[in-house]
Amino acid sequence: MKEVKVVVTGAIGQVAYALLPRIAAGEMFGADVEIDLRLSDIPQVIERAKGVLMELEDGAFPLLARVSASADRAETHAGADWVLLVGSVPRGPGMERGDLIRKNGPIFVEEGKAVAQHASGEVRVVVVGNPCNTNCLIARANAPSVPDDRWTALTRLDQNRARALLAAKAGARVRDVKKLVIWGNHSATLYPDFTNATVNGKRPVSVVDRSWLKAGFIEEVQQRGAAVISARGASSALSAAQAIVDHVRSLVRPTPRGDWFSAAVVSDGSYDVPRGLVSSFPLTSKGDGGYEIVPGIKLNAFATSKVAASVADLARERELVADLLASASEPAMVAQATEQQEALAAVATDDQPDDWRRASSERGAREGS
Ligand code: LMR
Repeated sequence: MKEVKVVVTGAIGQVAYALLPRIAAGEMFGADVEIDLRLSDIPQVIERAKGVLMELEDGAFPLLARVSASADRAETHAGADWVLLVGSVPRGPGMERGDLIRKNGPIFVEEGKAVAQHASGEVRVVVVGNPCNTNCLIARANAPSVPDDRWTALTRLDQNRARALLAAKAGARVRDVKKLVIWGNHSATLYPDFTNATVNGKRPVSVVDRSWLKAGFIEEVQQRGAAVISARGASSALSAAQAIVDHVRSLVRPTPRGDWFSAAVVSDGSYDVPRGLVSSFPLTSKGDGGYEIVPGIKLNAFATSKVAASVADLARERELVADLLASASEPAMVAQATEQQEALAAVATDDQPDDWRRASSERGAREGS
């Protein structure tokens, strides 16, 4: 039986807690693939990750060939086929994901280096920790030996939100919505392109109100993560785990005819997105773990302006982390990453009587570390 080595960082967090059993159960790679699952987290919390490991052992998952936990990336990332970078500090109420950029960026310098040093030559990386597009850009820049097409960041959560919302409004089922994909950044500027989507084969503008599509729909998808944080007191976890499963599944299975999916990938200059930026595009896959950006999609003036605004957001974020993209800054980065680990440990262990920090301490992952 085929076996894949899968690393999940932020292993003590809530996203990982929702994700790990689903990987172990075969939902990500299929019922004919055994899993060697490696739980990665920072040294300050790794004992707690061992508790999660015990639960995975106790699940007696038939496909779980091995499970291990370590704070040493040389151990967890050795020969890894898939590295799911979930661990990072989460945003709290009133924050934008981009506000985390200087906190989380240094973590992804280290993650990129670890992927380059230890993972398999065929490794594929999925960045989940926010701001995920720019964290992916940072990790990728710090792993020059790992080709562009191995790096992706998660906009599937936005795609799932958009499809569910449009289906509900149209009185359709989620599976009747096709080609509804996300362009740009996983931020308040993301663009769910309804202009090229279909609902039961029809254009969305013929089944729901056009003015709702152009305003309410887009804004609701853009703000859904914040709405979850405000309602739950913590960022999305089970829907994030679902989106990560869907993201990888879309890469390891051929895309159904008549549909696309979205993920943020390193731009090759398509659709005027500057080369190198990690931006969400419509994709298809042959099911080999790779993807192609769908060519020749017509974007009208409205869609073009929305995509341009989100790409401008990405370009701004890139400027904010310019120092993390240059290997010349390595010594400074090592120091910052160490400080960041300490900050993560504080979030993961703090039990101050403040709701948000307590929620953070309970979760850890994309959240917690
Ligand atoms: C989400 O979209 O729910 C996550 O990226 C968490 C967040 O900060 O919104």
